[in-house]
Amino acid sequence: MCGIVGYVGHSDGRVNAGHNALGVVLEGLRRLEYRGYDSAGIAVVADGTISSRKKSGKLSNLIAELEASPLPESLTGIGHTRWATHGGPTDQNAHPHLSDEGKLALIHNGIIENFAELKLELVRKGVVFQSETDTEVAAALLGDIYRNQMGGDAAKGGLTRAMELACQRLEGAFTLLAIHADQPDVVVAARRNSPLVVGLGEGENFLGSDVSGFIDYTRRAVELGQDQIVTITADAVEITDFYGAPAEGKEYHVNWDPASAEKGGFPSFMEKEIHDQPDAVLQTLLGRSDIHGNLTLDELRVDPELLKSVDKIIVLACGTSAYAGQVAKYAIEHWCRIPTEVELSHEFRYRDPIVDENTLIVSISQSGETMDTLMAVRYAKEQGAKTVSICNTNGSTIPRESDAVLYTHAGPEIAVASTKAFLAQITAAYLLGLYLAQLRGNKFQGEIKDILADLGKIPAKVQHILDNEDQIKELGRSMADAKSVLFLGRHVGFPVAMEGALKLKELAYIHAEGFAAGELKHGPIALIEEGQPVFVVVPSPRGRNSLHAKVVSNIQEVRARGARTIVIAEEGDEAVKAYAEHVFYIPETPTLLAPLLTTVPLQIFALALASAKGYDVDQPRNLAKSVTVE
Ligand code: M6R
Repeated sequence: MCGIVGYVGHSDGRVNAGHNALGVVLEGLRRLEYRGYDSAGIAVVADGTISSRKKSGKLSNLIAELEASPLPESLTGIGHTRWATHGGPTDQNAHPHLSDEGKLALIHNGIIENFAELKLELVRKGVVFQSETDTEVAAALLGDIYRNQMGGDAAKGGLTRAMELACQRLEGAFTLLAIHADQPDVVVAARRNSPLVVGLGEGENFLGSDVSGFIDYTRRAVELGQDQIVTITADAVEITDFYGAPAEGKEYHVNWDPASAEKGGFPSFMEKEIHDQPDAVLQTLLGRSDIHGNLTLDELRVDPELLKSVDKIIVLACGTSAYAGQVAKYAIEHWCRIPTEVELSHEFRYRDPIVDENTLIVSISQSGETMDTLMAVRYAKEQGAKTVSICNTNGSTIPRESDAVLYTHAGPEIAVASTKAFLAQITAAYLLGLYLAQLRGNKFQGEIKDILADLGKIPAKVQHILDNEDQIKELGRSMADAKSVLFLGRHVGFPVAMEGALKLKELAYIHAEGFAAGELKHGPIALIEEGQPVFVVVPSPRGRNSLHAKVVSNIQEVRARGARTIVIAEEGDEAVKAYAEHVFYIPETPTLLAPLLTTVPLQIFALALASAKGYDVDQPRNLAKSVTVE
C-alpha cells in the first residue's frame, strides 16, 4: 500500500546528472500508482526551501495541479501515492506532510501504531496538526527532534540522526522518506516491516517501494533489512540501523524489462496480464525439471532430509493467493499424502495454531510484502517450522525471511486484481508438490514425468482459450446490469469458483459468491430466484472418480429454482449442454490441473463486464496492490 519514490541527482553536470527530480519522481509514481491511488503528492528542495504539491484522487489530478502551479527545478525530491489508512482520501491528508516550519517534508507507507500518544505529546508542545493522519505525527516528531533536541544542527548528523531518534520512538510498520531544506542534496529513509529498495545510479541514487519506482534509470538495486535507515546523496548510499551502527544491504540486478510493465497495446494492464498467462505458466515451469522428469528445484535450499520429515503442511496466503493455496492442497495431499491445511494469514497466528519443526509452511504471495502473510510466516518460524515462499517479486521481504523460495516467473503484475500471478502460483505449487512426492517416494518417476508433460501442455491450452475469448467477452458485456452472480464448483473447481467471484467483486463491484456446489442445498440455495445468474465449473466427465454427475445434479437443483446457468466444461462434454444457457469449453486436461484453464474464462468475464460498466479495471476502487498493513 502506498507507493514511495525518492531521488537525488548531481548538481555539477556530471554523468546522468541533471535529471529534474520532478520528472524522475513523477515517472516513479506513475509506475507505482498500482500500490494506492487515493491521493498523490511530491516535494522538492530548491533554493533553500521545500516546495510541495499534493492532491486527492489519482496521479493525473496531481499532474494537473503541477501544470497549474509548477514546482521549481530541483535535484532532490520525494513523491507518494496513497492508499488511505488514517484519515480519508482528501487533499489535507495527502502526503507529503511538512514540519519544522515547512522546512521538512515527509512521506510514509504503513501505520504508526502509537501515533495517538505521540500526537498528544506534540500537541502539548504546541504543534498544531492540519490532517487526521499518523504520518503528520511522524513528520512533527522528526521536525521536533531535529529542531529542538538537536538544535537544527545539520553538522550533528542532521536529518539522519534525527531519523534514528524518531524511529526509536515509533511503533508499527513504516517506510519513511524525508527531505530537509537545510540539507538540499540528501534524502533520508527508514524502514520497519514496510518495503523499501535503493536504486544505484551513476551520479544519482533512488529510493522506491519496489524497483518499478526507478526501473527507467537503473537495474542495480539494494535490498534493505528490517529496522534500517538509508541516507542517499547523488554519490553515496549509507545504511545504518536505528541506533546509527553501520549496516549493509544486499545488491542485486533487476532482470525484468520495463516494457513488460507496460500495456503492450492492450487497453488495460489487466487484459494484457490475462494474455500474458501462457507465458507466465511456461516461464514458471522452465528449467525446473530434467529430461527424465526429475524435478530440479535448485533454489529450494531446504535440507531434503527435513522435507522428508515433514508431517504437516500449512499454506498461508490472502485473497487470490489463498485460492491458489486451496488448489495446491488438493494436489499436494493427492500426490504426497501429507495433510495440508490452507489458512488465511491474518487468522493463523491469532488462534494458537499447532506448528512445530515437522511443519512445513508454504506462504504464497505475489508481492512478497503482504503484511498479514509476513507476520504469519514470522510467527511460524518462531515456532520452529520450516518456511518456503512461493513469490513473484524478487528480493521482497517474505522470500527473504523464508528458509527457501520458489519464485513464480509471471513478470511484473501491475493491475491490482491478480490474474497471471494466480496461474503462476498454482503452477509453482504443483512443482513443489511433485518435488515432495519425488523426494518422499510417493510417486514413481514415470508418473511425475507424465504430470510434468501435462503441465507442459497448459500454456498452449490457455492460449487456445484466449484465442476464443469473444464469446465470453460478449456474455460479460451483456450482463453489465447483473446485481448478483453466483459461482459453483467442486473439488479443485471450488477455489476456482471463489476466485471467479472475487474477480467480479473487485472489478465490477457486483455482489458475487463462490460456493462448493455440494454445499448449496445446505442453505445458500435460498438465494436462487428467477433469473439469478449462476456460473458452474463442471469437472471432466472422464475418469473413475469424476464428480461430473454430482455437479450436473447441482446444476439441476438451481435451474429448478429459476437460475440462469452458465457452464465452464471440458471439450466433448455434450451432455452438459442440456442444462446450460451458455457453455464455454476448455481443452481436455487432467482434473487436478484444470484450474489453470477453468479460471481464465472467469477472468475474461469479469474484465468484460467491468469494462462495459466503464470501470477502471486496473485500479478498482478502495484497493491497492500490495497490502502492507495488518
Ligand atoms: O501480494 P499477495 O499475493 O500476497 O496479495 C494477496 C492479496 O492481497 C491479493 O491476492 C488480492 O486478493 C488481489 N486483489 C486479488 O486480485
